[in-house]
This record gives sequence, C-alpha cells and structure tokens, in this order.
Amino acid sequence: MRYIYTLLCSVLLLLSCGCGKEKKPRLVMVTNATFPPYEYVSGDTIDGIDPAIVRKIADALGYELEIQDMSFDSVIAAVQSGKADIAASGITVTEERKKQVLFTHAYVIAEQAIIVKNDSPIKAAADLKGKRIGVQHGTTGDTFVTKNICEPERFANGPLAVAALKTGKLDAVVVDGEPADVYISQNPGLVKLPEPLTSEEYAFAIGKHAPELHALFNRELYKLRSSGELTSIIRHYKEINSADKTKKYQSASFRDRLQESIYINFIKDGRYRYLVRGFLITLQISFFAVLIGLVIGFGVAVIRSTADSTGKLKIADFLCRVYLTVIRGTPVVVQLLIIYFVIFGSVNIDKVLVAIIAFGVNSGAYVAEIIRGGISSIDKGQLEASRSLGLGYWQSMRYIILPQAFKNVLPSLGNEFIVLLKETSVSGYIALADLTKGGDIIRSQTYDAFLPLIAVAVIYLAVVMFMSYMLDLLEKRLKRNE
Ligand code: ARG
Repeated sequence: MRYIYTLLCSVLLLLSCGCGKEKKPRLVMVTNATFPPYEYVSGDTIDGIDPAIVRKIADALGYELEIQDMSFDSVIAAVQSGKADIAASGITVTEERKKQVLFTHAYVIAEQAIIVKNDSPIKAAADLKGKRIGVQHGTTGDTFVTKNICEPERFANGPLAVAALKTGKLDAVVVDGEPADVYISQNPGLVKLPEPLTSEEYAFAIGKHAPELHALFNRELYKLRSSGELTSIIRHYKEINSADKTKKYQSASFRDRLQESIYINFIKDGRYRYLVRGFLITLQISFFAVLIGLVIGFGVAVIRSTADSTGKLKIADFLCRVYLTVIRGTPVVVQLLIIYFVIFGSVNIDKVLVAIIAFGVNSGAYVAEIIRGGISSIDKGQLEASRSLGLGYWQSMRYIILPQAFKNVLPSLGNEFIVLLKETSVSGYIALADLTKGGDIIRSQTYDAFLPLIAVAVIYLAVVMFMSYMLDLLEKRLKRNE
C-alpha cells in the first residue's frame, strides 16, 4: 500500500511540474476546431482564420499562444471562469453572451445557412416546419431554430450533423454560412440554400475580469484591419478550404470502397495517430485513476467497517458517508466538469491530471463499498480469533481480514476497473483528446461514422479483454496461495 502511495505521489508531482517554465507569458485560446475555414484540426495543429489572427495578435503582444480544442458550448464558460484568456471560435456576438464576456470588435459578418440534400423538397426557410433539423449544440443556429422553427436535433459539431444529413437521419442542417460552404464542398450531394436565416457578426470573447487584455486586443485587431492583413488572412484560409480535399468514393465494389474508406479514415494525413495518442491518454487516465480509487476505497472501507463494528471514528465515518452519497448520487461527467471548471477553475492545471483526480475520486466510492462488502463477508470469529492471539485491531485488519476480503471481492473490483476504463470516454467534455475523442476528430474530418467508431470500439474491447485475462490470472494465483 505504501509503495502504491509513494508511486502515486511521485507521478502526480511529475505531472504537475513541467508547466509554467516558459519565459514568455502564456495566452490560452479556446476553440472548437470543427468549423472550417475558421478553425479545424490539420495534422497535429489547429489551424484556420481564428488561430491565425489570434496568433498574430499574441505575437505582437509578446505572448506564447496555446490553443485548446473543446466543445463549442464550453468556450464561453472557459473564458468567463478564467480557464482561458480568449475564445476564438467563429463566435457570434449576442446580447445573452455579452452578459457573460467582453467581445472585441467584430472581424467578420456571417449568417446562418441551411444545408439540404440535392433532391430535397426543402427549398427555403418556410419549408423547414415539421422537418428534422440538425444544429451544433449551443450555437446561434441552435437558438434560432429552437425559437423560430422547432426543437432541433443537437450535435456536438457541424460535421456530425452533416454526416447525419447524408445518411438520411435529418432533413436539413442549420449552420454558419462559410463552414456550410466547406462542408458541402467535401460532401457531394449536398447543397446550401441561397437564402440565409440570420445576419450575424463574429468577435473574440475575453473574460470580464480582463479589461486590459480586451483593450490591447482591440488595439491590435484594429491595426490588422487597417493594414489589410486581416482581409488577407481571411482570404487565404477561404481559398485553401474551398479546394475539394476529400477524395470521393468512386469505386464500385464493396472491397474497394472499404479499402478506400480505411485509407481515408486512418492512413491519409496520418489520422491513425489520433487513435494512438488518444489510446495512450485513455490508458494513462485509467491506470492512475484505478490507483487513486484503490487507495481511497481501502481507506473509506476500513473507516466505515471499523465504525460499524466498534462504534469508533464517528466523524470520519460521517465524512465518508457524505463522500459516498455525493459521488454515487451524481454522474461522473458532471463531477468531471465541476472539478475542471469550478474546483480548479482558476488554476492552470494539466487536464490529464484533472481527469485522473475526477475518475479516481469517483471510482474510490464504488471501490469502498465493494471492499466494505468484502470485509463484512469475513466471519466475525476471524477478528475475535486473531485478537485473542494478541494482534491489535489494526493488525488483525491488515494481516487477517483485508487480504481475505480483497480476494473475495476481486471479481467485483475487476468489474469496477472495466467500468472505469470505459467511463473515461467522457473525458472529451473537458477537451481531452482521449481515445473516444480521437475517433470523433477523425469523424469530423471524414464525415464517416462507421470505421472510426468501430475502430474505437475494437480498441476498448481489446483492452477490456486483456484486463479480464490479467484479473483471471491474478485470481488463479491467489487461489493457489490458499
Ligand atoms: N457562430 C455560431 C455561434 O456563435 C456558431 C459558431 C460555432 N463555432 C465553432 N467553432 N464550432 O453560435
């Protein structure tokens, strides 16, 4: 146990240093990189109009720019809570949002547009009534459709909605006009209706606590505009995104199509690397979370059983009960978001570490109850016998009760670890590029749901099978030791 603890501490220490050593001050920009030409993942980096403008300004102000990719509905919250300095994500200026953040001068005029299939009976906004409409969650397209047309189907990003439209799950998608142009250029068979739904303006969002940064940004933005650089950045990215980059499925046979699909989803542009990197992050989070869960679980279980059987440790027992109730009573995603946005709201902390803590603390509650079950399954006579042999309470616990309890609960513990591994798939909510998110990134680039999802599923399955195998081995060994 002590060994595990030391290991854990050193790892946490290692993870938490390494930040904050650079000379230039850091400027954290958040975005949702599924929105070409404004922002999109390209190889290892996030590129597009917004990153390019912000990078220019950051350079001018002497900042080192760090770009974080997250869900669009979190970017405003991220600057508002101080987690990030600036949100640059094709954000439309709205009265609602103005209450939460400061907007810079607008840099683009935009609109909401409608995408449909070529042969769709929908020809204008008036035809949308009663139709299945897809939007990106939390966008002005979402607000507009909800208010004026009907309840839309909300997707994590535009490309996922477009993919749903292509497969006939939707009748139309409402998104911003320029991204719509890029989406349809990559997906033959789709068209953008000529008549836009709204007229809007994009600006960058900065936290209300940072009026100085806001003023500096406006000053630099003004300079970029006067020098004509702003226009040329925008033109450049529109041009490179209007070229049709995806190869279409032209081949006839199923085998050829599959081969082509494998090529596009995994090989082209080294896309498999999103899965490899994501896989490593998933493993890292799960491994350390299991360790934290075990440490917390053992501690809580021992405290609770001791309190139950001896009537001591009343306060500690009470605290443990509160912990169990809160953790088991709320979803792990919500806990993850609270830990990231609220508890570590204003601290600059590695996101992997946040996930490790969140999943570790969560798992601890389940492990605690599993182990407590194990402890109470051990006959009372064992404790009495060992105490009458002269061992103290804690010694009996440690040498007689816990080892037996552990063995009894090993299958349930194994189950908990498997659940934990799969639960880490919600890490994408705090913009961690774990395995599931890796698949999402590929999907948003290739508009193909099938292969990326199957690949992700197969990888999880393989890890779970490997874990079950190892647990089996451990169980057998413990049996032999009996
Ligand atoms: N302009 C819309 C809004 O502000 C959509 C922006 C979506 N941006 C993105 N990077 N996905 O709500």
